[in-house]
Amino acid sequence: MAAGAASEPVTAAAEAARRAKALREAIRAHDHAYYVLDAPTVSDAEYDALYRELVELEARHPALVTPDSPTRRVGGQPVAAFAPVRHRVPMLSIRTETDTTAGAAEKFDARIRRELGLPDGAPPVAYVAELKFDGLAVSLRYERGLLAVAATRGDGEVGEDVTRNARTIRAIPQRLATADPPEVLEVRGEVYMRRADFARLNERQRAAGGKPFINPRNTAAGAVRQLDPAATAQRPLRFFAYGLGETAGCTLPATHSGVLRMLRDFGLPVCADWRVARGAGELAAFYEDVARRRDDLPFDIDGVVYKVDDLAAQRRLGYVTREPRWAVAHKFPAEEAATTVQDIGVQVGRTGAITPVARLAPVFVGGVTVTNATLHNEDEVRRKDVHVGDTVVVRRAGDVIPEVVRVVVERRPPDARPFRMPAHCPECGSAIARLPDEAVARCTGGLFCPAQRKQALLHFAGRRAMDIEGLGDKLVDQLVDAGLVRTPADVYSLATGELAALERMAEKSAANVVAAIEKSKRTTLARFVFALGIRHVGEATARDLARHFGGLDALMAADEASLQEAPDVGPVLAQSVAGFFAEPHNRQVIEALRAAGVRWDEHAPQRAAAGPLAGKTVVLTGTLPTLSRDAAKALVESAGGKAAGSVSKKTDYVVAGAEAGGKLDRARELGIRIIGEEGLRALLAGRQP
Ligand code: IVH
Repeated sequence: MAAGAASEPVTAAAEAARRAKALREAIRAHDHAYYVLDAPTVSDAEYDALYRELVELEARHPALVTPDSPTRRVGGQPVAAFAPVRHRVPMLSIRTETDTTAGAAEKFDARIRRELGLPDGAPPVAYVAELKFDGLAVSLRYERGLLAVAATRGDGEVGEDVTRNARTIRAIPQRLATADPPEVLEVRGEVYMRRADFARLNERQRAAGGKPFINPRNTAAGAVRQLDPAATAQRPLRFFAYGLGETAGCTLPATHSGVLRMLRDFGLPVCADWRVARGAGELAAFYEDVARRRDDLPFDIDGVVYKVDDLAAQRRLGYVTREPRWAVAHKFPAEEAATTVQDIGVQVGRTGAITPVARLAPVFVGGVTVTNATLHNEDEVRRKDVHVGDTVVVRRAGDVIPEVVRVVVERRPPDARPFRMPAHCPECGSAIARLPDEAVARCTGGLFCPAQRKQALLHFAGRRAMDIEGLGDKLVDQLVDAGLVRTPADVYSLATGELAALERMAEKSAANVVAAIEKSKRTTLARFVFALGIRHVGEATARDLARHFGGLDALMAADEASLQEAPDVGPVLAQSVAGFFAEPHNRQVIEALRAAGVRWDEHAPQRAAAGPLAGKTVVLTGTLPTLSRDAAKALVESAGGKAAGSVSKKTDYVVAGAEAGGKLDRARELGIRIIGEEGLRALLAGRQP
């Protein structure tokens, strides 16, 4: 056998071993950059390519697999139960201060000073202030630098062996980043999940038709305690180290801040958001600062932790039962709490938006007593499946409006009842409607509804609408609050004296406003239609509608089909306009505006000459089911037809309603086509009656 041939495989194997080692080191470095430094060095795609190459290499050369290879993180066989692990140094709990004011820091500091026997004039004690992560405590035991055992806290003395699960967490190094590892280093810390990772996980879960997870903490804790490590590997878990358990063959720093730096130097993820705080004042300042930033953090916390920095002082302070005397957890007010839904009402917004609101049995959450929580909209109520009578979890974070997070379905009473969107606005009794493209239902009484009053008036008086100079938001506020104006029509009966009596309103400016109101009476149909504030009707649409229908009566009488014949009017807009004019409250206000003298020139509609009734003569008789005589006449004219008063041989159609008399007889005599309102609508839409 030639020497070359024999050495060939040896060289190939050596090359494979070299490459595997290089890949493992690269992946470890990228993991460290990503999870510990929070500063990724490669794209996900590049990372995946390295990982796949290592998997393939190890598949071809099984002898190259090392126990700490990144490829071993995938999981493996499920276990029947977790083996118990006795903690050689107990995993202590921490005393919790629930007083949510800065006073808690003073209490802690005063106790520490007393127990350390410090005289009054002594300098402030140095503490480390950290975040209190909301996850699951674990202990990681590194032996000669290699991860040997991972355990949960259990009862503090004996925990569960979750080593195989911990190995799937990429934020947990399989080996310490040191050439000279200690004999034993037990690292204590928290497994947690970032909010964004949690949200993505839930998106995937929902897309797969699964039940969504409740919150990051429970999900992280549940994932660590999965019997199947492959399931743990599917969860985006992270880890923060914050303390030590047993150590051997390791020179410890003199301070806790030194420990945190040492852990970081060993390649463990340590949250950078900690500081040395001197005295109660600096502890309280940290608490306040974190409380303000809490919602901006990428993960959930439930408070901060204060620890005496000096380790010798920690030893002197010692323990009471299961709690160290040298540390305290200073909690934030809980952001979630359970309570019951006593009713589901609706609230009307400035734009008429109807928001379902859960009326709750009072509950203290996020630092205040909450009695109402928003349910956003109808679909949201369905999605969350909230019934009256349900027990629900309510969340109030920061300044945001309290919301219902979820229902505790197991506690639903048999007489719980689902929410039904009311048909009428609780503020004004107008119809509630939901446009096809919208999530939100709205009150259609835009001109009449007290909830929409200020908004409607401001829009009405606006420069591009009725253009009433001087009627701005401050005056609108005053007029509405004083009860002088309820609908836009009331504006036209305001007297100079009434205005002048308002605060900060001189006689002269009152007279100016009255003059501007008077002047606004002379307007155009397009401006008037825009001023009504119909949803989706902007200036351009208002102009199109005015031009197309020529007069207000024709516009008001148009049904959805005829509206859609106007340029650029689709089904949503047509439904919005028809719905607005169908609301009797709005019609009343429009009538009052006309009666007050608001006027415009009605044009012959643009398309009339070419309209579906061009050249036709129509006679109206009797009472039509929905159209007034005027409205029907306006519609005929807007379609290019002539509405005549009497029937003759030249009459093309007689539109007959209830109690039609002589004209109907005459039409029969002359053999003229007789139709009803339906037939008229067909003609207007260009169809055969
Ligand atoms: S130190 C001897 N530091 O809060 C002190 N704990 O009951 C041991 N926690 O079980 C705990 N963040 O899971 C410490 N920065 C932090 C922490 C923290 C969260 C958890 C830990 C512990 C619980 C306190």
